[in-house]
Amino acid sequence: MADFSIKNWTRLSGEGKANLGTIFLKVGLRLTGAATMAVLLLIHREWPVTVSVAIGTLILAILSGIMLSAHLRSVETNSINRSRLEKLIWVISLLAVAGTQVANLAMNPDDLTRVGFLLMAPLVAQAMLIGALASSGLSIVSLSMSVLLLGITGAVPVDLAAGAWLAGSVAAHVVNPLKQRSDLIRAMSVQVLAQSIISVSMVLLMPAMNAAWYEAMLWGGIAAIIATAIFWLGVAIFEKLFGIVSDWTLLELCSPEQPLIRELVLRAPGTYAHSVGVGNLAESAAREVGANPLLCRTMAYYHDIGKTARPNYFIENQIGDNIHDELSPSLSAQIIAAHVTDGVEMAKKQRLPQVIVDGIAQHHGTSLITYFFHRAMQERGTTPSPELEEKFRYPGPKPQSKESAILHLADIVEAASRVASRDQTLELYVTNLIEKSRADGQLDESDLTFRELGVIADSFCRTLRAVRHERVQYPKDSAVTTVGATVQLDQGGRSLENKTPSDHTEHSSEAQSL
Ligand SMILES: [Fe+2]
Ligand SMILES: [Fe+2]
Repeated sequence: MADFSIKNWTRLSGEGKANLGTIFLKVGLRLTGAATMAVLLLIHREWPVTVSVAIGTLILAILSGIMLSAHLRSVETNSINRSRLEKLIWVISLLAVAGTQVANLAMNPDDLTRVGFLLMAPLVAQAMLIGALASSGLSIVSLSMSVLLLGITGAVPVDLAAGAWLAGSVAAHVVNPLKQRSDLIRAMSVQVLAQSIISVSMVLLMPAMNAAWYEAMLWGGIAAIIATAIFWLGVAIFEKLFGIVSDWTLLELCSPEQPLIRELVLRAPGTYAHSVGVGNLAESAAREVGANPLLCRTMAYYHDIGKTARPNYFIENQIGDNIHDELSPSLSAQIIAAHVTDGVEMAKKQRLPQVIVDGIAQHHGTSLITYFFHRAMQERGTTPSPELEEKFRYPGPKPQSKESAILHLADIVEAASRVASRDQTLELYVTNLIEKSRADGQLDESDLTFRELGVIADSFCRTLRAVRHERVQYPKDSAVTTVGATVQLDQGGRSLENKTPSDHTEHSSEAQSL
């Protein structure tokens, strides 16, 4: 299927050549995963195994790995996340197969008909972990890989493998959503019920299993409890190891008790209110384009934490005189831009997940701090030039993911909605803001498509209407084009910042620059 993303559009110029070293590394990692899987699948056999058995097992493991990679390519995510996800799935699948084989070896063959239901536990835990850290779809694909390999190679009886697949498929879904501690209890209860029913059904269908229905029910239920315990222990470890954040962690980060959020509320209450507004806009828009809504909200809460270093330099926290009146435009622009680097430093110090640090770094992209750029031009009596413009741009990088791009747009729209006047329809105003950011190249490295930009604009309008009602005013759409950006003017031809002295801020400049 053709890729109509803005990122791909710009890539047509020939950027993004494949790096041979990276390809070899990826192939090497996949082969290592497949070879390890083949060894684990043969543990229960008598060693040394024959060459034909070893080669047959290795081929099956490699084919499963190819299936997994092919499926991952169809999943919507950026290449960094995809490669991380692939490693995560390989590691969890290998551990699940190893756990099954260890349990297998520890059991007497006669026990397999009763206690054998415990063999499901590592595989169900695998399904829960990948379901919570990646997605239910990926969880079922990886579960199929482990279960099929264990069944085909005779490591576990095929009927037990089939039962484990059914139980794991339930687990992949019940684990989502996982927002509160009570969700874990709910997931475990459903899982105990499902595994008990599956185990009893297997005994009823296969008299050769030679177990009473209540025994099957008991061991099936115990396997579900063990699987939930493994999941509970494993989820935090895998999150840290692979830099992937679960909804659980994101919700914890959104708590007002988090040190950086507390600092924001106390030192920069205006910025906190703005961040909550950005979170509302970003979360709703993300939900409508299939991005991660909770990640967007969390990134929004933290995106301006760098402002706590110098809160009074930002309009939303100012009372009285504007500090920027005493400063040169270039110094003001440097101070405004520093909130991005300060925020990144603070987030790293607090050991926030990398994805949140990336959101802070990318939320302005390389956009122009328009107000001070124009003030500098006025003071110097010069016309716009790329060299001068470069000095008044944020450090970047540009948004690299859908979530970062949505955060970037929500930030612009939320800030602009606070200074706007009512000369345009809301739809036109929001669409113009988004279009200006796109035209400035800020969305080139995200995965957003043109169609999704329309959906995001609609969502922003709905949220703004619901939250602001009569308070929103929209300016007349007259604009003066600068190099790579535009500045909104009021009917008198003055920039909007001049209408209110306190608009000498990052956010008023955001409203003008895009
Ligand atoms: Fe910002
Ligand atoms: Fe902001």
